[in-house]
Amino acid sequence: MSEIKKIGILTSGGDCSGLNVAISGVVKAATLKGWTVYGIHDGTEGLTERPLSYEILTLQNFSDTPWAKTAGSYLGSLNKGIKKDQLDDISSRFGQGVRELGLDAVIVLGGDGSMNVLKYYCEKAGIKMIGLPKTIDNDTPLTDFSIGFQTACQVCMEAVDNIDTTARSHHRAMIIEMMGRDAGHLALQSALAGYADICLIPEIPYTLEGIIKKLEAVKATGRTHAIIVVSEGIKDENGEVLSSAQNMVGEKVHGGIGDYLTNLLNEKYGGFQIRCTRLGHIQRSGHPVFADRIMASVFAAKAVELLAEGKTNVMIGVSHGEVTSYPLEEVVAAGTKSVDLNSSYIKAAKLLGMYIGEI
Ligand code: F6P
Repeated sequence: MSEIKKIGILTSGGDCSGLNVAISGVVKAATLKGWTVYGIHDGTEGLTERPLSYEILTLQNFSDTPWAKTAGSYLGSLNKGIKKDQLDDISSRFGQGVRELGLDAVIVLGGDGSMNVLKYYCEKAGIKMIGLPKTIDNDTPLTDFSIGFQTACQVCMEAVDNIDTTARSHHRAMIIEMMGRDAGHLALQSALAGYADICLIPEIPYTLEGIIKKLEAVKATGRTHAIIVVSEGIKDENGEVLSSAQNMVGEKVHGGIGDYLTNLLNEKYGGFQIRCTRLGHIQRSGHPVFADRIMASVFAAKAVELLAEGKTNVMIGVSHGEVTSYPLEEVVAAGTKSVDLNSSYIKAAKLLGMYIGEI
């Protein structure tokens, strides 16, 4: 059994819907055990910067307000990247912060990158860690789903539906650029749910000829509009991933391939007028859908249960409908989860006649 009295909770990396459900779930379950919950502000910064930035969370924070049902992070989050040569310095400040607050464990809501970095910080600080996977990209390894992904799919699917109506009116082919960094889960599943004609993801190479052939096939059926979903991480003709921004340590943030393809298709193919919509950060919005709410609540309860049992250094996840946990070293070793090219989603896309590249 554990000797837990004080725990910290933080959200790290890009925000998403469902984070506040998980935070409030942890507060509820931990408070019932008599623990004090420290909500750490702005990812790890609340512990690594001085003065420390945190608040003690109680049931009151969430019971009297609609916070739990909103997107975003009540605590604030940080998606800034990290320079390797700063890792040891930041990690020692993290350890000092943890000791100053007297925390016995930290619950981290993060994606694959955050699990990696926070595992390092927590090991160095000698503090217990439980990870809860969250990301609209759904690329956290081992778990079937991360918190936030299914709400993002809902937002993207509705965007496809909405763009479809104007595509129909103006007889256009509409390109919709979605997030997902180097994994195509969000684009592929939203494209399937939105009945797109074409979906391009980083895991599968495509050709301009392939896109044009599919657009011609659409026209041959008598339909006068088309929907093309592209994931931000696909490459241009020169094999480059496009970028339109940088994070705080100067690394490129993906974006712009939709406009690039629009120009290319408008120049090389006259069969459809093409327009592009980049969905951008709206993909991180939306009230958490049922699946995310229930998953975030169950993950939160499980995290507190494991800590109470003295179990630690694991990430909670879901596999074949069952909530389970994975050792953090296995999570880190597995790296980013790409779309499995043998998955039912890929098979379905092909069987349904979607052009998904040269596969
Ligand atoms: O990792 C989540 C994510 O939303 C990616 O899909 C996207 O590439 C990135 O974050 C965008 O980051 P930022 O909010 O820093 O622009």
